[in-house]
Amino acid sequence: MYQLETGFPEGFLWGGATAACQIEGAYDVDGRSLSTSDIHRYEPHLNRKELVENEHTRASLEAVLKDEASYFPKRYGNDFYHRYQEDIGLMKEMGFNSFRLSIAWPRIFPQGEAQPNEEGLAFYDKVIDEVIANGMEPIVTMLHYDIPLHIVSLGGFKNPKVIDYMVHYGETLLQRYGHKVKYWIPFNQINLIQYCGFKSLGLVTDGSDHFEEDQYQAIHHQFLINAKLKEIAKTMASEIQIGIMLADCTFAPHTCRPEDVVFAMKRNRMQYFFSDVALRGAYPMHMLRYFNEQGINVKITEADKQLLKQHTSDFLAFSYYYSRTVDAEKNTMDAADITENPYLKGNDWGWTIDPLGFYNCMSQYWDRYQKPLMVAENGFGYEDVFVDGTVHDQYRIDYLREHIKAMKEAIKDGVEVMAYLPWGPIDLVSSGTAEMSKRYGFVYVDFDDLGRGTGNRYKKDSFDWYKKVIESNGEVL
Ligand code: BG6
Repeated sequence: MYQLETGFPEGFLWGGATAACQIEGAYDVDGRSLSTSDIHRYEPHLNRKELVENEHTRASLEAVLKDEASYFPKRYGNDFYHRYQEDIGLMKEMGFNSFRLSIAWPRIFPQGEAQPNEEGLAFYDKVIDEVIANGMEPIVTMLHYDIPLHIVSLGGFKNPKVIDYMVHYGETLLQRYGHKVKYWIPFNQINLIQYCGFKSLGLVTDGSDHFEEDQYQAIHHQFLINAKLKEIAKTMASEIQIGIMLADCTFAPHTCRPEDVVFAMKRNRMQYFFSDVALRGAYPMHMLRYFNEQGINVKITEADKQLLKQHTSDFLAFSYYYSRTVDAEKNTMDAADITENPYLKGNDWGWTIDPLGFYNCMSQYWDRYQKPLMVAENGFGYEDVFVDGTVHDQYRIDYLREHIKAMKEAIKDGVEVMAYLPWGPIDLVSSGTAEMSKRYGFVYVDFDDLGRGTGNRYKKDSFDWYKKVIESNGEVL
């Protein structure tokens, strides 16, 4: 007889996920320096359906650094820096037993100093202790889109010297918090290089005459950092787990034409490449062939290959928001280039609702790697209407319910999922568009796109709903 899986395992981690640069604010206190996120302007006339990313050339970077007229929302976040106790209290009230947060590198090594900034570390001592005191497992991202600008001035991650800077930063965190924090994600969404070269790699688009080569060289350095941090972690405490994180970009063929089917497979392989290197410990041949055909010369030494082979990641974290469809005739190999799926509805930003896509990608990851999965982000961005002190966000409840059901289906198939961490449990600033009005939370934050408001927190309808989900370990949906 076989024992079947029936639902969420005991000890399943229910919580939420955030990033320092979207919540903390307090961008200029205690010695913190500016980061790639602090120079993302709010654009009042932005087209929500066009992904407005904060990419830079050398000239635009120089200009934005001098810009004193624009509003830069990520400098202010939702004021978590001052309200973290209240926010963690609200998460506790919902029953969270885990919380994903990130540490801001510019607070710890503002200008690449040899010694860490004690005031920066002291803030995270308080936050991590508060998380633990409230019964939550902290899950920490080391770098979530806030690269200190001095690293950008060195050429970003394409400069091999930056490996030492980030390893030193990561090692400092592991030494300080390794006995309190078990789960670590060195890089948020390591594969999103084609959407966000600036905030995830610190590259300007005209830094050389071969930008794609710069991107893959920078990524190679991030793979090495990931492996080195894993090596360090294992010598410190055997419980520490180092994860690789993807933004799910699983592509479905637009039609059953064989060209579309093969094209979707190739596009998927370009995404699995990132987790293949981190979880299997080697570059896949199709990628080396792609580099060769594109004239991309990534410097990979024998010692690098050894390091990657010996120190693979422990788990696969991923974010899932929507699914993507590709057409061999219309789309290129660029990950951002997709075709609209006529079967799905989306939100105002064009992000489709597809719980089956969630089930699909989890199953693919498990079948490929057989490593524990962490749902590090999931959620529904919506321009909520705040009335009488609350938000009636049935649309969010519907979205999350269907995605939790999909996750349960995968678990019944034997997929090992360890955590579900919906994005932005307390409303925060959008990463892509820097709007406050693209909200994900169970808790409404009274700030608008220009940072006006009291900052007060109000429970939405989804607050009580998620509380019941957690209480029942995913049985009451
Ligand atoms: C993920 C990022 O890609 O998506 C988060 O890790 C981000 O930082 C989230 O906030 C949602 O995207 P957006 O653009 O709606 O904030």
